[in-house]
Amino acid sequence: MKPINIELKNSTILVTGAAGFIGSNLVKRLLRDNPSATIVGVDNMNDYYDVRLKEERLAELQNMSAHRFIFKLASIADKEFIDNLFEAYAFDVVVNLAAQAGVRYSITNPDAYIESNIVGFYNILEACRHSYDAGMDRGVRHLVYASSSSVYGANKKIPYSTDDKVDNPISLYAATKKSNELLAHAYSKLYDLPSTGLRFFTVYGPAGRPDMAYFGFTEKLVKGDTIKIFNYGNCKRDFTFVDDIVEGIVRIMRSAPQRQMGDDGLPLAPYSVYNIGNNQPVNLLDFVTTLQEELVRAQVLPRDYDFEAHKQLVPMQPGDMPVTYADTTALVRDFGFKPSTSIRQGLRKFAQWYKRYNERQRRLAFIAAARVAAKDNKLFAPSPIFPPATEQTALASIWKNKPGHQTASLKNTPFTGTHLANFSGKQGTGIPSPKTTLLN
Ligand SMILES: NC(=O)c1ccc[n+]([C@@H]2O[C@H](COP(=O)([O-])OP(=O)(O)OC[C@H]3O[C@@H](n4cnc5c(N)ncnc54)[C@H](O)[C@@H]3O)[C@@H](O)[C@H]2O)c1
Repeated sequence: MKPINIELKNSTILVTGAAGFIGSNLVKRLLRDNPSATIVGVDNMNDYYDVRLKEERLAELQNMSAHRFIFKLASIADKEFIDNLFEAYAFDVVVNLAAQAGVRYSITNPDAYIESNIVGFYNILEACRHSYDAGMDRGVRHLVYASSSSVYGANKKIPYSTDDKVDNPISLYAATKKSNELLAHAYSKLYDLPSTGLRFFTVYGPAGRPDMAYFGFTEKLVKGDTIKIFNYGNCKRDFTFVDDIVEGIVRIMRSAPQRQMGDDGLPLAPYSVYNIGNNQPVNLLDFVTTLQEELVRAQVLPRDYDFEAHKQLVPMQPGDMPVTYADTTALVRDFGFKPSTSIRQGLRKFAQWYKRYNERQRRLAFIAAARVAAKDNKLFAPSPIFPPATEQTALASIWKNKPGHQTASLKNTPFTGTHLANFSGKQGTGIPSPKTTLLN
């Protein structure tokens, strides 16, 4: 086991990508377990996927602790900002999760990857390096950063080990992640910066990323669309539940690689790379079948959902890997830990979260449509996106009967689900109160 050489309890920690899926879960855990720690979160809140999801994650963090969680809306590609940030806070530990993620998006949007994953990461490395300007006993004690299982490219040997040669990336995303490991190694060696790269394997869970297959499948199944399962369902993925990823990150944050001198009198690079994956790859078709079962269980899909009619088996996509499978031997050896959440448990939590999320989305879509109608002073056409038709009919009749009054109210005041519920059976009385706020 590696010794714990950093106490997180009273430390100042930077988490980049804090509004992201993994970042927000990490900050939540750090705030919960370390009541005296200060967490600075940076995120540029880009719209690669629905920004509202990032805002909701942030709101939850700010509710947990407004004074111990400090959020900065900025890009890590902004060197001046990063340098000033490191001057203002003497970070003990830096966790760099900000990145342009996604394999397929890198085919059409390469610039975003170079900016965030290369320039941004370089800025973090430089700031870590200069944190030692006032002496090696000060400054960043551990830089932990997200790499990815995608660095294994078309590796034929499984499970994937950090000892494998990974010089053949098959996407720009993978190439940027491998570059991060190379850059980190150079900085660890040159400036004695303790760094650890983490190769995450297909992370999933509540409030996850809508661009990822399990989330996209869910949205499609709910809409009644057909889902495409690539490689005829024969892709294997080492799906890893987000809580397991966070557990791994936290354990690793506390154990920085030791600084040591080499025989040549120069420091040996205090550098490590680990896989964090479930170590149990699952066939995509089995994963999707379990997902569908859990969506039915959570009442997101109806009991009699015809799954067979909504799936299509199709060939492989460019940039995709046929299998991902993490060798976690080093993780177990050094940290006594490996992910253990089963696909069934993890997807159950996702499905339960998705139920709440989906209801909220429908309500918001309904409200948005109602607002547009009110703005134009038009009769609101009941829409199938918000199922309780009684509410829509009631709302429609309010507009019809009192267009002037409702237009004013709707322009200035958001609705809540409660108010929407009040519309049923009480036509004309469900006027929103000025104190109401959206989403409660
Ligand atoms: N989720 C996975 O399956 C997975 C697998 C392997 C590696 N990773 C890596 O883990 C990290 C976190 O992934 P995630 O799934 O939480 O993705 P995410 O997209 O939800 O989170 C990344 C966050 O970084 C922010 N960001 C992007 N560019 C930025 C910039 N230039 N400056 C500041 N903020 C920026 C985004 O707005 C986003 O909120 C990423 O580095 C990703 O490449 C994720």
